[in-house]
Amino acid sequence: MENYKEVIECVYDDLKHINDTGKVADYIPELAFVDSNNFGISITTIDKQNFGVGDFEKKFSIQSVSKILSLTLAYKFEGAKLWDRVDVEPSGNPFNSLLQLEADFGKPRNPFINAGAIVICDVLVSHLKNPKKEFLEFCREISNNQNINYNEKVAESEKTSGFRNVALCNFIKSFGNIKNDVDDVLDFYFHICSIEMTCKELSEIFLFLTDDQYTNKKGESILTESQAKRINAIMLTCGFYDESGEFAFRVGLPGKSGVGGGIVAIHPDEYCITVWSPKLNKKGNSYKGMLFLEKFTTKTASSIF
Ligand code: DON
Repeated sequence: MENYKEVIECVYDDLKHINDTGKVADYIPELAFVDSNNFGISITTIDKQNFGVGDFEKKFSIQSVSKILSLTLAYKFEGAKLWDRVDVEPSGNPFNSLLQLEADFGKPRNPFINAGAIVICDVLVSHLKNPKKEFLEFCREISNNQNINYNEKVAESEKTSGFRNVALCNFIKSFGNIKNDVDDVLDFYFHICSIEMTCKELSEIFLFLTDDQYTNKKGESILTESQAKRINAIMLTCGFYDESGEFAFRVGLPGKSGVGGGIVAIHPDEYCITVWSPKLNKKGNSYKGMLFLEKFTTKTASSIF
């Protein structure tokens, strides 16, 4: 941990005042109100030591980072059958693209683009009596953290501006790959995206994707070893939309970004690290977040390659 701390402090100081060419997401109006200068980092090692700098204890909108959690719960329910509904191939397209769905008969390329995450929400709506309540309970239970909540304003803001997601959900339903009412599925999807967490909380909750297989309070494994391997593999190949190759190339870890400016990355043998900086590059990933992680894994020589 000492080496990680030193490198985190050093890279944080180097990047804090750089000219950030990114832009805060404003296609969901409520997200535009965030202070773009926020910059936080948190690392939790597999022996549960934690270290953070900057704004690592401020809540922010985790947006698509939540897609790891929804995938995890759907995978627990469905097992390998899940892959009949959603594929595991990088899309090479923007996260909200409709393009490939026609040729692919409504089967999204992977669970981390919006199309795939909407199908995952449909799977969860089929399994849960009260999806919003039970999904939050799942997040709270696996992290042993009761302080995880939706931001209703953000969910509402996305509901009134989420035309592409409405189109995606209806289009997929036309192929029969959405089983429930589209309004119910979308309401659940918008809520999941609106979850707020801090960098510290995120670096703790995703420890279950490290090799030690963290368990819930009852001592049960959250995922099997093989399932954790597979989710990490999808993160590595699909976690950054049409910039997934670039992230693997520069950082060398499985990870997942969100348009709130958060990035979570996993070193399966060592740690989970989270960075938050709201300004996004053209592909929708945090500009400073990617730069930070590139420097961090280079200086600590701790990528998976
Ligand atoms: O659906 C959306 O566009 C946002 N709620 C989430 C986008 C995001 O973070 C990146 N994409 N999957």
